[in-house]
Amino acid sequence: MTAITHATTPYDGQKPGTSGLRKKVRVFAQQGYAENFVQAVFDVVERAPGSTLVVGGDGRYYNRTVIQQVIRMAAANGYGRVLVGQGGILSTPAASHVIRKYGASGGLILSASHNPGGPDEDFGIKYNIANGGPAPEAVTEAIYARTQTIDRWVAEDTPDIDLDSIGTAKVGGLTVEVIDSVADYAALMETLFDFPAIRAAVAGGLTMAFDAMSAVTGPYATEILERRLGFPAGTVRNGVPLEDFGGHHPDPNLVHAKDLYNLMMSPAAPDFGAASDGDGDRNLIIGRGRFITPSDSLAMLAANAHLAPGYAGGLKGIARSMPTSAAADRVAAALGIPAFETPTGWKFFGNLLDAGMATICGEESAGTGSDHVREKDGLWAVLLWLNILAVRGVSVDALAREHWAKFGRNYYARHDYEALPTEAANALIADLTAALPTLPGQAFGPLTVAAADSFAYLDPVDGSTSANQGLRVLFEGGSRIVFRLSGTGTEGATLRVYLERYEPADGNLDADVGVMLADLIAAAEAIAGITRHTARTAPDVIT
Ligand code: G6P
Ligand code: ZN
Repeated sequence: MTAITHATTPYDGQKPGTSGLRKKVRVFAQQGYAENFVQAVFDVVERAPGSTLVVGGDGRYYNRTVIQQVIRMAAANGYGRVLVGQGGILSTPAASHVIRKYGASGGLILSASHNPGGPDEDFGIKYNIANGGPAPEAVTEAIYARTQTIDRWVAEDTPDIDLDSIGTAKVGGLTVEVIDSVADYAALMETLFDFPAIRAAVAGGLTMAFDAMSAVTGPYATEILERRLGFPAGTVRNGVPLEDFGGHHPDPNLVHAKDLYNLMMSPAAPDFGAASDGDGDRNLIIGRGRFITPSDSLAMLAANAHLAPGYAGGLKGIARSMPTSAAADRVAAALGIPAFETPTGWKFFGNLLDAGMATICGEESAGTGSDHVREKDGLWAVLLWLNILAVRGVSVDALAREHWAKFGRNYYARHDYEALPTEAANALIADLTAALPTLPGQAFGPLTVAAADSFAYLDPVDGSTSANQGLRVLFEGGSRIVFRLSGTGTEGATLRVYLERYEPADGNLDADVGVMLADLIAAAEAIAGITRHTARTAPDVIT
């Protein structure tokens, strides 16, 4: 067997975004496109000769094609071992765990997260480093720079290997191990959560519905929820990963997981409803008749985490992204532990987790996780909720009410204006940035601005700074509006407006969210001129 050197020329635009290189399948399918990127990764990342590489993805269309190519290229690039999930399947959190558990130098995760899949839809390649987390900016910058000068990629000239049977194969000097996609992850979950308590609750009548959205969590949820925890067959819906996710957006929000939402609001609702996204890192939590926002979920999980064996010793700190509501900060204050506010993007939690400064992290964009891996983890959040409900013997609704009665409630919504002309969105942000210094003291209806700024983050671990991470308008009394442009959109610009109103523990805790946020919605328009800039009169999506 021989390694073959393929001459190539650079492609423009191979700059990894928030979560790796994400493009349409037909872009990836161009001659050498994926190979250029993978070779750029292999050329620049830290790895000793003979290192282990983890490869797997969310099962979307083109997953298998790229995995086969990665294996040939890893063999020709001096890796000693490739661990690949059976059928090419590894959820993002499972891949993070496998990298850590087997001491890999890194991993390639093939996914476009919650974006649709199929020949005309999206594909993605993301590199994670040895700590199991997404490559930091210095690494992605180096990868990008390499893609701009790349002139060859190397691969063993070998046939496809069998990805569907667990076992070991040789490709040149490389050992390829096809591993059970679920086993290591499920074993980790058993160390963190009180499975016997959950099993007992299930035997006692606790019911749930989990929507895997025809994406990667199907096999994980089926093994853990149905086989290990005893929920009846059928608890996991849409549990078979499909290359096109059944034609849906595998995004667990109230728009794309509408069937689950409708079920949970109906008389037939089970006790607990949950969903996860394409690659298994996001989560949606809905109790019977009660949707829990991701911001509230973080706060409620943090307040009760000690009920799970993995967190019985208490939390070191809680971290949230800036646009996530401050509900978790109140829990941190009550627990006497630090609260961290980071820019949007899971990668900003990595240093805090590695340094042992935070244990639990969360984002308003439906991500929650802990220091057990270095990615957010959808099923982890579901299992922590189940653990808490099982031990406490209360409903989701009761737990939420009790939480708010203790800490107060941060009413919260995100308004998204999608596919805006980029110039219009940039102009809105530029005008608002210029106006920030004039805002303090101004009144908008009943709201008076206390402070306004452009969020900048100073990483307390490595001292790096990240500026321009969103515009904050803070009102007297703890309410807040954040304006930010999405970093993950693929069409034009997406404006996100995050609205948050704090209602103290003796206030109105169970009112309609839209009603409670009405003054803030009006203030957002008055402050930013959304209609003037974008000609839109209403958001496209409210989450
Ligand atoms: C990805 C990242 C998240 C981040 C989100 C923000 O999902 O993994 O950590 O919160 O993007 O997306 P946005 O579109 O708001 O930039
Ligand atoms: Zn995802």
